[in-house]
Amino acid sequence: MKLKRLTEGFFIVFEGLDGSGKTTQCKCLRDAFRRAGIDTVFTREPTDGPWGRKIREIAAKGRDNITPDEEMSFFVNDRRQHVDEVIRPALDAGKVVICDRYYYSTIAYQGALGLDRAEIRRQNEVINVFPKPDLVIYLDIEPRRGVERIREQREGGANVGYEKEEFLKKVKENFDAMDDYNFVKVKAVGNRDDIAETIVEIVRDRLGFDLH
Ligand SMILES: Nc1ncnc2c1ncn2[C@@H]1O[C@H](COP(=O)(O)OP(=O)(O)OP(=O)(O)O)[C@@H](O)[C@H]1O
Ligand SMILES: [Mg+2]
Repeated sequence: MKLKRLTEGFFIVFEGLDGSGKTTQCKCLRDAFRRAGIDTVFTREPTDGPWGRKIREIAAKGRDNITPDEEMSFFVNDRRQHVDEVIRPALDAGKVVICDRYYYSTIAYQGALGLDRAEIRRQNEVINVFPKPDLVIYLDIEPRRGVERIREQREGGANVGYEKEEFLKKVKENFDAMDDYNFVKVKAVGNRDDIAETIVEIVRDRLGFDLH
C-alpha cells in the first residue's frame, strides 16, 4: 500500500544502543534505495558541526564539569543546526533522509543521566518543532553484546562515559519504553543481511517503497 508520495520526502531514523548496528544498517538501507534508483541523504547525530564536535569530545574524554543540562543544550543546538541546514531542506526537496541517531537517543541517554524524559521530549517535539520521523528503526540489543562489538571494533576498547554496561542498561529501558506510532523494534542480533532484509520489508510496508 502506498502511504505517501515520494514528492513529500521521507524521514527514516535509526536508533539503538552503542554497537547495535545502526551505522551498518543505515548503509544497507541506503544501498537498497540506491538499487531501486532512489538517492538518499545519509546523515548522523551528533553532527560534525561545532556543537556535535563538543558532544563527541565529551563522549571520548568524559564529562568533566559539564552538567547534564548543559550537555542537553549542546544536543538541542546541534540538532537545530542539523535540521535547518540538512534535514529540513532535504525533506522539502522531496528526498529520503536516513539519519543515524536523532532525538530518541537524547531522550534515552540523557534520560539515563537523570534528566526528565518527558521534559527532553518536550524540548525536542514541542519547543523546537524538529520534524518527526516517518519511521524509526530501533535496533534492539543487549548492552553487553553491543559493548563487545564496539570493543572488537576499536583496539583501544570502548569509550569512557557512554559505553558502560550499567549505564546502557538504563538507556535500553528508556528505549524499550518508547511506544511512538512511528517506532519499530528490530532484533539487532543475527546475520546483518537478514537484518537488512527485515528493515527493507518494514520500509516497504510502512512507506510504500518498492525496494528489494
Ligand atoms: N549483525 C551483526 N552481527 C555482528 N556484528 C555486527 C552486526 N552488525 C554490525 N556489526 C558490527 O558491530 C560493530 C558495531 O556496528 P555499528 O558501528 O554499525 O553499530 P552502531 O550502532 O553504529 O554503533 P555506535 O553507536 O557506536 O555508532 C561493527 O564492528 C560492525 O561491523
Ligand atoms: Mg554508529
